[in-house]
Amino acid sequence: MNFKKNILCIGAGYVGGPTMAMIAYKCPQYKITVVDINEDKIRAWNSESLPVYEPGLYEIVKKTRGKNLFFDTNIPKCIKESEIIFVSVNTPTKDYGVGAGQAADLQYWEKTARTIREYAESPKIVIEKSTLPVRTSLAMERILSSGKKNIAFEVLSNPEFLAEGTAIRDLENPDRVLIGSRETESGYIAREQLVEIYANWVPKEKILTTNLWSSELSKLAANAFLAQRISSINAISALCEKTEANIDEVATAIGMDARIGSKFLKASIGFGGSCFKKDIMNLVYLCRFYGLKEVAEYWEGVVRINEYQKERFTRNMLNAMFNTLAGKKICLFGFAFKANTGDTRETPSIFIAEKLIEERANIIITDPKALENAKNDLGHLNSHIEYMKDPYKAVQGCDAIALLTEWDIYKSLDYRRIFELMTKPSFIFDGRNILNHSELYEIGFNVFPIGKPPFTHFK
Ligand code: UDX
Ligand code: ADP
Repeated sequence: MNFKKNILCIGAGYVGGPTMAMIAYKCPQYKITVVDINEDKIRAWNSESLPVYEPGLYEIVKKTRGKNLFFDTNIPKCIKESEIIFVSVNTPTKDYGVGAGQAADLQYWEKTARTIREYAESPKIVIEKSTLPVRTSLAMERILSSGKKNIAFEVLSNPEFLAEGTAIRDLENPDRVLIGSRETESGYIAREQLVEIYANWVPKEKILTTNLWSSELSKLAANAFLAQRISSINAISALCEKTEANIDEVATAIGMDARIGSKFLKASIGFGGSCFKKDIMNLVYLCRFYGLKEVAEYWEGVVRINEYQKERFTRNMLNAMFNTLAGKKICLFGFAFKANTGDTRETPSIFIAEKLIEERANIIITDPKALENAKNDLGHLNSHIEYMKDPYKAVQGCDAIALLTEWDIYKSLDYRRIFELMTKPSFIFDGRNILNHSELYEIGFNVFPIGKPPFTHFK
């Protein structure tokens, strides 16, 4: 079949894979190829067991794979054949040298730019999908235009706002699509080509075009604002626990103000995921680089409160269980950084598991999708941990349950049966406030929510 355009995506991860699957699904007239240096990952994308778990993803891949969606490892050939190239390689936080712990590690991204330059034989539009520090596209332009070849490259920024667990819904029905370009004639022409792709399913008024730098910075700023809301509500949850106010009541009351809005006000054990901390640290680094010390400190506070919330949660567990966890069995309900994903990057559960083991507790972890990742994350501690898929088996003989991920299944378990299986006194620490606390108390549990008075049977 003759396709209208050949689109390539370099990087077949959480962003590249689902995003390209959606473009392929909505645009049968385009040929979409996704490549990666990791051959195992490409093999998995071509198999029945995809490397990323997202509700609805498998169905879309099944409908498009082999028709207009292809996963390949021949990067040079695919670069040659494409007109439009999305770059969605990983940009983790640097853990060495200047900016360690804050700045983005751009080595994978830069290698990709050099590979594109090496193999390109015709003009290309190169689109930054990965989250990058503001003004990175300038470096990309410079790499692409250096050397002997005289090929026209136009760099666009098109940050991805999908959230894990709802990626397919977010891609299908985005709040907005953001496209940044150079404000030049060739920049506008390239931008229009990308608008045309999204316009196949996204209403025109939701496709926002800006200059390159606004687009790059908006992605960092959006994540910083979202994380800031969580740190704000978590900070208030600490005050609730001291004052007998109830964080869910407070969240409802403030969220009804249309200027504040009700979303993203759920108190928790702290935010995780591959983006929030990384992007804020990146923003902090940029602010320091430009001499904006006060601005850097302001955003750093969001991460500080997040660390504090995780620490507070484990300290509350220790205090509630008579200040000793040594030899006690604690079951963690959920390990993923949020529900409906197997992803455990930056999950608060890692910190909590490590702290509990430091107190010499024995840990049993259960999670519907994240057990394999949990085993890798906690490899250094595996002699203190058991992993069990079945929550009823996992709680056997445990002193406490710590609910860390808001999976729906944990709401509908038979807690009477669970209570019978546990050591007494039995504790539940609901790190997501999703359980029916008074019902659990009636059953006999001592219940410790976040930002609410506990329910205990102790005099
Ligand atoms: C985030 C952004 O939402 C998305 O737009 C961006 O593209 C990538 O980063 P993601 O990290 O996948 O997405 O998940 P998100 O739903 O934002 O949750 C992040 C963390 O915050 C999770 O650990 C979640 O449990 C926590 N959270 C979220 C809360 O603790 N309370 C809330 O009210 C919302
Ligand atoms: P994200 O969450 O941003 O999608 P991931 O880590 O899930 O990040 O995915 C990034 C992918 O990019 C990985 O599969 C990695 O192997 C791939 N990658 C990194 N560098 C290159 C490169 N130079 N060429 C092709 N793929 C790359």
